Amino acid sequence: MTARKLLSLSVILSLLLSTASAETIAIIGTGDVATALGPEFADQGHEIVYGSRTPDSDKARELVARSGEGASATSPGEAAKAADIVVLAVPGLMVREITAGLGDLSGKIIIDPTNPLQRKTLTFHHAVETSNAQIIQEVAPDAHVVKAFNTLNWKTMIDPDSSGGPVSIPLAGDSRSAKRTVAKLVEGMGLDAIDVGGIENAHWVEGMLILWINNRYGTRESFDYHLRKTK
Ligand SMILES: NC(=O)c1ccc[n+]([C@@H]2O[C@H](COP(=O)([O-])OP(=O)(O)OC[C@H]3O[C@@H](n4cnc5c(N)ncnc54)[C@H](OP(=O)(O)O)[C@@H]3O)[C@@H](O)[C@H]2O)c1
Repeated sequence: MTARKLLSLSVILSLLLSTASAETIAIIGTGDVATALGPEFADQGHEIVYGSRTPDSDKARELVARSGEGASATSPGEAAKAADIVVLAVPGLMVREITAGLGDLSGKIIIDPTNPLQRKTLTFHHAVETSNAQIIQEVAPDAHVVKAFNTLNWKTMIDPDSSGGPVSIPLAGDSRSAKRTVAKLVEGMGLDAIDVGGIENAHWVEGMLILWINNRYGTRESFDYHLRKTK
C-alpha cells in the first residue's frame, strides 16, 4: 500500500473514531460556567445544545456562535431531551426546581458544577443538608449524576496553567462509567480528574467553597486553593 493510501486510511479511521465518541451535550444556562464549558466541549468534537430561558437572546446567539458546528440553543427541557449528557450550569439554590423541569433524564449523565451557597448575616453557609448532587440524583433517580467543576472558578477551568501547575477536578458519583466519561471531558480541557468516590462525598466537595469564601470576604486571611493529583 502506498504512503498516500495509508494516510487517507488513517484520516478516515480517525474521522470514524471521533464520530463514534461524539456526544450531544446539553448545557443548561448561559452564564459564566456555561460559557466556559460549552466551547471547550465543542472543541473536543461534541455537539452542544444550550438550554436557556431566552434561547433567542443576543447572549445565547453569541455563545452558540462560539460553540462549534451544529451548536444550538433551545428551551432547557428540549435541550435535555436531545442530549446524552446534561450540564446543570444554573444557580446553586435552584437545582431541585430546574432539574424537575427537565423531563425524563433516565440513562443520561448529569454533570453538576453547582454550589448551594447562602448568605446568612455575615457568613456563607452550605444551604442544603446533603448536597446539590444528591438532590439532583433524588429528583432524577435513573440518571447518572457526577459532581464536577464546582471547586474552581470559570477562569481556571479554561486556563488551568494560570494557577501555576496542573489542576485536578474531583468527581463524585455512584456510576463509575459516568465518572470515566466525565473524566475524558475534564482531561480534554487540560485538567486532571480524581475519582473521590460515591455521590455522598459531593457534600464535602461542595463544602470547600464555604471555607474559601468566608475567608475571602470575611475578616480572616484570604487564600486560593488548587487541587493537585499526587504523582
Ligand atoms: N462562576 C464560577 O466561576 C463558578 C465556578 C464553579 C461553579 N460555579 C457554580 O456553577 C453554577 C453556575 O454558575 P455561573 O457563574 O455560571 O452562574 P450565572 O452566571 O449566574 O449563570 C446561571 C445561569 O442559569 C440559568 N438559569 C436558569 N434558571 C435560572 C433562574 N431561575 N435564575 C437565574 N438563572 C437561571 C441562566 O441562563 P438563562 O438566562 O440562559 O436561562 C443563567 O445564565 C452556580 O451554582 C455556581 O455556584 C460557578
